[in-house]
Amino acid sequence: MALFNKKKEPETRNLPENLPKHIGIIMDGNGRWAKKRGLPRKAGHSEGGKTFRKITRYCSDIGIKYLTVYAFSTENWKRPDDEINSLMKLFRSYLEEALSDFKDDDIVVRFIGDKSHFNDELRALMIENEEGSKDRPGMVLNIAMNYGSRDEIVRAVKQIVHEVEDGSVSEDEISEQLISDRLYTAGQPDPDLIIRPSGEYRISNFLLWQCAYSEFVIMNKLWPDFDKEDLDEALRIYAQRNRRYGGV
Ligand code: FPP
Repeated sequence: MALFNKKKEPETRNLPENLPKHIGIIMDGNGRWAKKRGLPRKAGHSEGGKTFRKITRYCSDIGIKYLTVYAFSTENWKRPDDEINSLMKLFRSYLEEALSDFKDDDIVVRFIGDKSHFNDELRALMIENEEGSKDRPGMVLNIAMNYGSRDEIVRAVKQIVHEVEDGSVSEDEISEQLISDRLYTAGQPDPDLIIRPSGEYRISNFLLWQCAYSEFVIMNKLWPDFDKEDLDEALRIYAQRNRRYGGV
């Protein structure tokens, strides 16, 4: 079965012309979605996984170049074992499907975050997915797993310290660009738009450095209920924003 269904959207969706190049999504609200229905939290994650597939395919179909989704944070390990186990199972089943299908799919799959905390099987699947998709021509999908932006920045700082110590970088060469180049998202444009469903006004340690000039759109839908129309609405809101980057 295809990880992302490949059906193209009809041309009639009436989308704004200035679409963001890079969208970040904090996929929030799975637990509340399940609770509202008297279901276990894992049912919310499973439904959220379906939304992730739909929205990813849709972003690719409408020509978004980069999509970063927040799937599991460095802080999410604090959740009960049962919830973590079901999330890991969900991740594994998606990654297996992605692998079996990668020849037909044009999406480049990347994982941002510290892979070393995942078990060998999951880590191997992540690496296989990255290797198998890296030469595809389509949208870059960053899946943030065991990702924390502060942790990402600490790693970048340590790397730069080593480079200064071994003489490959001088203090004068340390710049915003050099720091960006040491983050997991090196070589990618910063997100233009960050969407947070579920009505929470928080960034939750997501792309702190990269979101300096991102536009934020908070939506009141829980992630499992989020659909293409909600994404269209976020795109329309984004298109009306006047981005000044600190200028006038
Ligand atoms: C936050 O909602 C969501 C998560 C911690 C997990 C997100 C994972 C998925 C949507 C599955 C995607 C699968 C892949 C392969 C990327 P929450 O549990 O914090 O919700 P709550 O705030 O309502 O409790």
